[in-house]
Amino acid sequence: MKILTVLGSTGSIGTHTLDIVRCNRHLYQVYALVAGQNVEALVSQIVEFRPKVAAVATSAALTQLSSRLAAAGLPQTEWPELLCGDAARVQAATAGEVDTVISAIVGVAGLEATYQALCAGKRVGLANKEVLVAGGELVMEAVREHGAELLPVDSEHNGAHQCLRAGNRQQVEKLILTASGGPFRNTPKEALAFVTPEQALNHPTWRMGNRITIDCATLMNKGFEVIEACWLFGFAPSEVEVVIHPQSTVHAMIEYSDGSILAQISATDMRMPIQYALTYPERWAAPVPKIDWAEARKWEFLPPDLEKFPLLKLAYQCQEAGGSATCVLNAADEIAVEAFLQGRIGFLSIYQIVLETLSRMPARTPKTVGDILEIDHESRILARELAAARAAGHVTA
Ligand SMILES: NC(=O)c1ccc[n+]([C@@H]2O[C@H](COP(=O)([O-])OP(=O)(O)OC[C@H]3O[C@@H](n4cnc5c(N)ncnc54)[C@H](OP(=O)(O)O)[C@@H]3O)[C@@H](O)[C@H]2O)c1
Repeated sequence: MKILTVLGSTGSIGTHTLDIVRCNRHLYQVYALVAGQNVEALVSQIVEFRPKVAAVATSAALTQLSSRLAAAGLPQTEWPELLCGDAARVQAATAGEVDTVISAIVGVAGLEATYQALCAGKRVGLANKEVLVAGGELVMEAVREHGAELLPVDSEHNGAHQCLRAGNRQQVEKLILTASGGPFRNTPKEALAFVTPEQALNHPTWRMGNRITIDCATLMNKGFEVIEACWLFGFAPSEVEVVIHPQSTVHAMIEYSDGSILAQISATDMRMPIQYALTYPERWAAPVPKIDWAEARKWEFLPPDLEKFPLLKLAYQCQEAGGSATCVLNAADEIAVEAFLQGRIGFLSIYQIVLETLSRMPARTPKTVGDILEIDHESRILARELAAARAAGHVTA
């Protein structure tokens, strides 16, 4: 029996995780469900999974949670402990009863709880890539120092993890991460200035949360994944290559020194990598579609267009630069994506805001989670100002 805390239970990865629990109730028990604001979804999860703890982001959401739970008819004696705020996320992730934490909050809001879970020696299934983008050095130090296990849920890294089990790490030449290319793969560069949030949210192969979907459209997500891979597997940025693979079926490849390349292939269904992170080193039957080899299929592989999608190139440069650069990159991107989704800035302004935030923020070397959160906070303030200036039409380039 595995005892789980699900950070971000109401999101795309969180609900897929609970799907796996639903299929194997005798193998998993949910200790804590942690959400942001979606109280309605959390109440149905509480009623179904009966966690010991349920947490939301704010006190306003907590008040709502109590009244909705009462309205749902669950006797108060059967309610979980209800909590809110930053400390609640940490408490849920580090409780002694918990052995596995699925880290699936979006953005840096998931950093502290994920970091503390690792410091407490838990197994963490990591979907929340921003944790490594913002705080990779500290997080990996925590894994080493506390004997914790960090298993990638991101499908590409999960694929790489599987391919790396086939050989010696010393004999690996490079990692190849695939990218679908997003909804604008075939859109001419000049037309990108006019694309809408609705078009950008229309991902060709995956259904995910809004931020990651926009990050896929700019290829920022792939840039984050390059950074994530460097931390997870100890690669230099130059050893991680990105290739566009519109079918999203080959997730990652590892090239060994003899030129042999191993690929991980599976259907586009996140429940496979989530379950892998839960059951590793074992493999259990997963509730995912199998590839039908009786069906004719064609797979393409193309190089990415770094001129059209400059955020990918910027991610490589930030990882090379080290220090606070990737934390600033993540924070500025989150703010710029938010402004784009609100219709306040154009698609191409996302890159401009990120670039300008990076150029204006001083380079630092964060030593604690507090330092990272401070850099994140300052970068957001600056990126917000830059987005506001663009939204007001003060900057057009
Ligand atoms: N979706 C995928 O297929 C996929 C694949 C690979 C990696 N990832 C990564 O996994 C993470 C989650 O992605 P997603 O697509 O599942 O995102 P999502 O659908 O937007 O879900 C995000 C989750 O985070 C919660 N959350 C946000 N702010 C919070 C806060 N301050 N405190 C507590 N919870 C908070 C949300 O709660 P509420 O909804 O209740 O506000 C929700 O449960 C991201 O880092 C993403 O890059 C996702």
